Amino acid sequence: REKTILTICGSLRKASINRALMETLPELAPEGMRFAEGPSFAEFPHYNGDLATESGIPAGVTALGDAVRAADGVIFVSPEYNYSIPGALKNAIDWLSRLPDPPFRMKPVAIQSAAPGMIGGARMQYHLRQTLVFLDAIVFTRPEVFVSQAMQKVEGGRLTDQPSRDAVAAQLAAFAEFIDQVS
Ligand code: FNR
Repeated sequence: REKTILTICGSLRKASINRALMETLPELAPEGMRFAEGPSFAEFPHYNGDLATESGIPAGVTALGDAVRAADGVIFVSPEYNYSIPGALKNAIDWLSRLPDPPFRMKPVAIQSAAPGMIGGARMQYHLRQTLVFLDAIVFTRPEVFVSQAMQKVEGGRLTDQPSRDAVAAQLAAFAEFIDQVS
């Protein structure tokens, strides 16, 4: 059946290798899988419990939460910062987790990462996975996608390296089946 996948990029920069990976997903997806990027979290304030009660939850947080809830699945495509989740992305997840109807609950989620180094963002993926498990997401396990040495594998805003493209295509096909099984 048709599926809409919400994509969330952990990098805010325009020339991001993770954004390039994310924007390559439609060409590598199985039939019936559509992609929509989530509303940006770039302007979310730092989470502060006083803000959440005094002025209410920021409109952008509600919008991103609605988009997550409406999707059949979510794919995070994120860099690794200092062996972990980029702060802006973690802040966005912290905000989403305080919404009255927590959006990641029972939501199928997959994770991808790209990095210039040899590890390809793996350490970020395991931290993000741990956070998502606490939020009761249904986190997809394998095949995993780590695009290492990504500066040689991304060109013109697209993932061009064929073995990496094959790995992404394999994950997307398996994630589509996973969504059917768990939904
Ligand atoms: C990095 N980078 C990085 N890379 C990595 O593989 N492991 C790491 O722990 C870190 N740590 C780190 C911290 C900070 C603050 C920055 C800015 C960068 C390098 C990072 O992978 C590289 O800058 C990527 O290009 C970032 O991804 P985007 O923005 O190109 O998607």
